[in-house]
Amino acid sequence: MKMSKKVLVIGGGGRCHAMVDSLSRSPHVSKIFCAPGNGGISAQAECVPIPVSDIDGLLEFAKSEGIDLTIVGPEASLALGIVDTFRKAGLKIFGPTKAAAKIESSKEYAKDLMARHGVPTAAYRTFDNFDEALAYVKAGPIPVVIKYDGLAAGKGVVVALTLKEAEDALKDMLLNEAFGKGRVVIEEFLDGPEFSFMCLVNGRKLYPLAIARDHKRAYNHDMGPNTGGMGAFSPVPFVTEEIKNRALETILQPVADAMVDEGVPFTGVLYGGLILHKGEPKVIEFNARFGDPETEVVLPRLKSDLYELIDAAVEGKEFNPEWRPETVLGVVMAAKGYPGKYEKGHVIHGLDKVSNKVYHMGTSIRDGKTLSVGGRVLMVLGEGNDLAEAQKSAYTDVIKIDCDGLFNRNDIGNL
Ligand code: AMP
Ligand code: GLY
Repeated sequence: MKMSKKVLVIGGGGRCHAMVDSLSRSPHVSKIFCAPGNGGISAQAECVPIPVSDIDGLLEFAKSEGIDLTIVGPEASLALGIVDTFRKAGLKIFGPTKAAAKIESSKEYAKDLMARHGVPTAAYRTFDNFDEALAYVKAGPIPVVIKYDGLAAGKGVVVALTLKEAEDALKDMLLNEAFGKGRVVIEEFLDGPEFSFMCLVNGRKLYPLAIARDHKRAYNHDMGPNTGGMGAFSPVPFVTEEIKNRALETILQPVADAMVDEGVPFTGVLYGGLILHKGEPKVIEFNARFGDPETEVVLPRLKSDLYELIDAAVEGKEFNPEWRPETVLGVVMAAKGYPGKYEKGHVIHGLDKVSNKVYHMGTSIRDGKTLSVGGRVLMVLGEGNDLAEAQKSAYTDVIKIDCDGLFNRNDIGNL
């Protein structure tokens, strides 16, 4: 393979920092650009201030810089058809087409696809009428899960433990249109531990990544609202090789095959948000991209070259990624108020005191100071021979970070 490749990573969060960090270790890569990037990423890549939604601007940049490979982080760019646009222009890009990205952007599409192909997931029905939705909920068991059918940045899901909570969620989504005009999917509540299984995919070909688990609720003991994820770790002790293979056989491979058979082949990262329900993996959701914060704990365990892996996936070539056995765990430090309204612009001190990696999720550097500018701000990693060691290592560094505007969970890694 020719050395000195130029890579463009699209996005500005922690998963992009993790990708840039991994790519910076590849001997194939001579230059990394990140659009728009963030304060931490700017130490390892040249950040270019093009928004992830400006597809034409990104295309123009990639052409003028002679980018060899573009890797897409956020779903927003995918849903706008960035992959279709780049491919049409003859540029190499890793991610699904707009049609294939529907597996994430439309929960109804994902559920119907699974139903057509017998992929194990929770029973469900879709509604756009409030009265009909409420009648359905009243007739069924509680807890029940109510999901807005569209992109809601991880916030459009309510696990209703009471009928009142379910009714409020339906009112919010269907009557008040909290996320815009749309429908809801009402799902059977599945009980069990969750895990994230990301596979790079090219049509029917799968390149499985290491398993991770994230913690979605905002506060300790899984209390509070759902977030994009407050911490993660990899590997996950309860996901044995047998369970991983079962998930591949019954979920990831059949879905990849189904998409080829239905004329919407998937290329990119197929992220299965899975739950181990009575010993069987079942699907909670699919994403069409690298998970955030899972990527931040999975990529540091990758022994292979990330550029080679992604390039192999884009080309559909053989590649078996190798993994380090150590556990990597990351604690998200988020802006107080997240996932609701939060403050920006707090100065972060102590970053020079930590010994582990810190991936930046929402920072900016101004006058030499690192400022918080996002909801999730930093992810502090830890590493060890097991989960307990990795947890201890991460929290030893979390307490060195001093910023009034941030909070974190203290129980990331507790099973
Ligand atoms: P989603 O955005 O679909 O991943 O849902 C966010 C979170 O809600 C998941 O990580 C689960 O914790 C929970 N959840 C979603 N669907 C279900 C379900 N059918 N049963 C139990 N919990 C669910
Ligand atoms: N951590 C879940 C996600 O990336 O959507």
